[in-house]
Amino acid sequence: MIIALVNQKGGPGKTALTYNLAGILSELEPVTALDTDPQGSLTAAWSLRVREVPIAVSTAPAFPLDHPALDAPLCLVDTPPGHERHARKALALADLVLVPLTPSPLDLMASLPLLAMAAEARRINPRLRMLAVLNQVKANATLRETITGMAKERGFRVAQTWVPHTVAVSEALLEGLPLNYARPAHPAVEFLRELAREAMEVVAYGEDKGR
Ligand SMILES: Nc1ncnc2c1ncn2[C@@H]1O[C@H](COP(=O)(O)OP(=O)(O)OP(=O)(O)O)[C@@H](O)[C@H]1O
Ligand SMILES: [Mg+2]
Repeated sequence: MIIALVNQKGGPGKTALTYNLAGILSELEPVTALDTDPQGSLTAAWSLRVREVPIAVSTAPAFPLDHPALDAPLCLVDTPPGHERHARKALALADLVLVPLTPSPLDLMASLPLLAMAAEARRINPRLRMLAVLNQVKANATLRETITGMAKERGFRVAQTWVPHTVAVSEALLEGLPLNYARPAHPAVEFLRELAREAMEVVAYGEDKGR
């Protein structure tokens, strides 16, 4: 199964969610992650790890479609910002594309081209599911709800689970670890766990009527 994190907008949390979802999912079985970002942020985070975790990160900035990591039972793919070819490759391959959005209209607007790209990709990858997820959510529920509503109106399927903004995500990266390994009792871990559960459910059962 391939889950790719895609958003051509820079900075909504593709890499952080790739690594943190890998962390949660690796509690069940070892997880493979593929870093296709020429910046190599996921690789850099992993290289900082202060202890081993059941996550294997491969680095492939050219994003070859036959990379062996993509054949693993579960592969999470991190993609770069502003790189349409990589986004299209991810859409062509993935069972699920997660689209992190910060709760800002600017982020949402910049992400809209993905909807048309996904519609095109479905011609060659009919199993594709796409799920937007609000990340870096601060304590303003109204803003989160408004952006969620706008994203749905524009055609995104939006995860019920959102991920709070917390410096603990970056602090954990100082140790090169996903939050569930660095600070298992941190409240944000439950949000990440719920997101992982929802993502797996969408792949297993999620109806996706063309959007
Ligand atoms: N939920 C969160 N709470 C707090 N900080 C976060 C959260 N998610 C991500 N960040 C931080 O926000 C910054 C951007 O996140 P990240 O690098 O994962 O985004 P990205 O989409 O991969 O960016 P790029 O497009 O440059 O690859 C990082 O410093 C990261 O640690
Ligand atoms: Mg990144």
